Amino acid sequence: MNKFVIGNWKMHGRLADAVVLADWIRAGMENISDMEVVLCPPSVWLYPIEEVLRKTFRPNLSLGAQNIYPGEEGELTGEISAWMIENLCQYVIVGHSERRAKIGESDKLINQKLLAALKYNLKPILCVGELKENAKKEKLDKRILSELMAGLKGVSPEQIKNVIIAYEPVWAIGTGNNASGTYAAWVIDNLRAKIKTLYGTEMAQNIPVIYGGSVNQNDVLEYISQPTINGVLAGGVSLNAKEFLSIVQIFSRIKKDIKRY
Ligand code: PGA
Repeated sequence: MNKFVIGNWKMHGRLADAVVLADWIRAGMENISDMEVVLCPPSVWLYPIEEVLRKTFRPNLSLGAQNIYPGEEGELTGEISAWMIENLCQYVIVGHSERRAKIGESDKLINQKLLAALKYNLKPILCVGELKENAKKEKLDKRILSELMAGLKGVSPEQIKNVIIAYEPVWAIGTGNNASGTYAAWVIDNLRAKIKTLYGTEMAQNIPVIYGGSVNQNDVLEYISQPTINGVLAGGVSLNAKEFLSIVQIFSRIKKDIKRY
């Protein structure tokens, strides 16, 4: 699968809101088969949402966690591990800029989370992004590649096949000031070039790399029409079933082939 629409619900919604949202999305996915749609609700709603999705099995509608802590179990109040949710979820977001900035997650911890996810068969969605816009596209912000390399430390050529990279410029998240499609494609081409040096040409072509940051249904086409961009990670818009599904539908009309790198 090389097309992804991932919804990050962040810290929003009570149980009834979450169930209704998931149910609408499940119902609206009836004719969608050529992409992977992933819902990432707050961890407390993972199980009830899994029950909702189970009502009508849709092989391309999956569940993701927003966070895990490395290890299996232990003295860690408030945390959940990949081991605990191995049979509940297929994906997990790691390295989101909100957790880096507001909770103080380090590159080292993010790398440990990513390795823990892979160990327990979850596909990590590794978020990387710069703090400030570099509109002239002069030189890639060092932070982007350093977050990528730190996040992937110790990931084997076999394991990298299960990793998704999300380019999420911090200045674009939740601001309404989304990056242009060409800007996002420029950064993502640079990320693929780095993946090439680490894992070879085939992996550079095949690794899913998606864009996130104020994505909405009106300009989603800008991203998904770029050959190098495999999809989107949506925050705010993913809380509205109609808008989220319209992104899915727009994307399902587009054929993707990322073999040009
Ligand atoms: P946003 O969030 O779409 O609300 O900007 C995206 C994200 O943080 O993943």
